[in-house]
Amino acid sequence: MRTVAFYDTKPYDRDYFQRTEHANQLGWRFHEFRLNAATAASASGARSVCVFVNDRVDRACLMLLAELGVRHVALRCAGFNNVDLVAARELGVAVTRVPAYSPHAVAEHTLALLLALNRKVHRAYNRVRELNFSLNGLVGFDLHGKTAGVVGTGKIGHITAGILRGFGMNVLAYDPFPSPDWACDAGVTYTNFDTLLASSDVVTLHLPLTPQSHHLISAASIARMRPGAVLVNTSRGKLVDTTAVIEALKSGQLGGVALDVYEEEEGIFFEDHSGEVLQDDELSRLLTFPNVLITAHQAFLTREALGEIARVTTTNIHRQEAGEAFLEGTVL
Ligand code: NAI
Repeated sequence: MRTVAFYDTKPYDRDYFQRTEHANQLGWRFHEFRLNAATAASASGARSVCVFVNDRVDRACLMLLAELGVRHVALRCAGFNNVDLVAARELGVAVTRVPAYSPHAVAEHTLALLLALNRKVHRAYNRVRELNFSLNGLVGFDLHGKTAGVVGTGKIGHITAGILRGFGMNVLAYDPFPSPDWACDAGVTYTNFDTLLASSDVVTLHLPLTPQSHHLISAASIARMRPGAVLVNTSRGKLVDTTAVIEALKSGQLGGVALDVYEEEEGIFFEDHSGEVLQDDELSRLLTFPNVLITAHQAFLTREALGEIARVTTTNIHRQEAGEAFLEGTVL
């Protein structure tokens, strides 16, 4: 039976992966630690490794994996910025991902964050539990009639824009590869990035992290936003310069920030650190703002998405082991 070394395992991963059609034909070796160059030796005997967003599959790691006979890196996520694709190609290691497990899950979480932040649901929840029924400080704004800027109009951006339209918002979009027919049908207006920043009350990010998009939201781009605008990032943490965001929150240039991802989330998110002293000073500072709402990379976490992630990833691993073409999601 072919062994699959599985990294950064959580109970819900085991649960959904072991329920899939091909699960019994593969030998699962579930590791709770993450894959990187220092832990790659643990893949010994496996031909496939299954990784998530914070495993670091860089050149050094890939070289070790290739030496051990690993032929396939199966990402159980959509983004693949944590894999050195050039090195993988050179080493003949296939890379697959799950391109669209549930764009609805991420789009809906984006709206959950925006609504909660704007209407201060997180603060109201705590107040009411303390029998504090005061409304002071809980004033939000109507989304209806405001302008939202959607940066990146792929699968998640499309759905997010559609939901925002449903709230009666004007929706602007920026994407170097626009979809004009979709925009026309959805009532969305494409514009350039600067106009989107200058015109939007809410800016929401739905683009991949690439060398070009790193710190797309910087001090310079925040300065071009509407004073008091709200920023939502459910895409990748490094799209946003956290230091610049903190300064903009202090000055009021940003009126609120909702994040499902954080620049330095690796080693923090997905784990319970509640009994420890948080060593990350920028995350600590962010958590002190009343107008910041953070979730720990959970936008994908629906039953539907977990089922689809497990189905596509397991089928790809099974096919690689059987020498068959991948189902979908081939990156290399
Ligand atoms: P997609 O590939 O369907 O769409 C991405 C869009 O971004 C494309 O239309 C592309 O042309 C555009 N784009 C690329 N560079 C850009 C730039 N510099 N400026 C503006 N647009 C740009 O991807 P999908 O499925 O919509 O996912 C978007 C991102 O969401 C993923 O890359 C991933 O990082 C993130 N994500 C986050 C999850 C979470 O749990 N928080 C779960 C799934 C995805």
